[in-house]
Amino acid sequence: ESHSIGLVVGSLRRDSFNRRLAQALAMMAPAPWQLEIVEIGDLPLYDQDDDASPADSVRRFKARIAACRGVIFVTPEYNRSIPGVLKNALDHASRPYGQSVWAGKPAGVVGVSIGAIGTALAQQHLRNVLAYLAMPTLTQPEVYLQAKDGFFAADGGLADEGTRRFVQGWLDAFLAWVERQAPA
Ligand code: FNR
Repeated sequence: ESHSIGLVVGSLRRDSFNRRLAQALAMMAPAPWQLEIVEIGDLPLYDQDDDASPADSVRRFKARIAACRGVIFVTPEYNRSIPGVLKNALDHASRPYGQSVWAGKPAGVVGVSIGAIGTALAQQHLRNVLAYLAMPTLTQPEVYLQAKDGFFAADGGLADEGTRRFVQGWLDAFLAWVERQAPA
């Protein structure tokens, strides 16, 4: 069974806090797990007319997700929901009808925001979508992070010791839970 976990980042911004959080998670992953970002920035806007002849980037994205044992969504909150680019990626890999690569794949949801509620509402919207996509999703613990100055250390990890331990605890719980899920 694969120990590869896909990290899907809901921000395309070069200096995205969520991308940096995803990179920090990848550094924190214990062997034999491998966490890798699966890029969504090259996906076209979803158009159902293209279902029969998807773009190469769409085929690649679906193949990468299909090969993962599980997926962690690392997303900002945009206007109290998930960014359109993330919904676009979710829609792409759910189609054509009956050929979704999400179904049965264990999912985790985390996010960091400059706002005080730490992406809580975006996460709740995302959980709704993942439920429809038949992705079993870890419910507890939850991760809501607020990025303040100095949130990330120079080495790319999380600067604050307490935050680092909290996120490591979440990651360990998530991976143990994925191990207990039936293979997708
Ligand atoms: C935001 N931001 C934001 N923050 C939040 O906590 N709740 C929200 O609803 C929103 N809405 C929102 C909409 C749009 C269009 C943008 C561009 C931003 C602020 C957001 O938390 C901040 O820009 C983060 O830095 C975005 O995450 P990345 O890109 O750093 O990963």
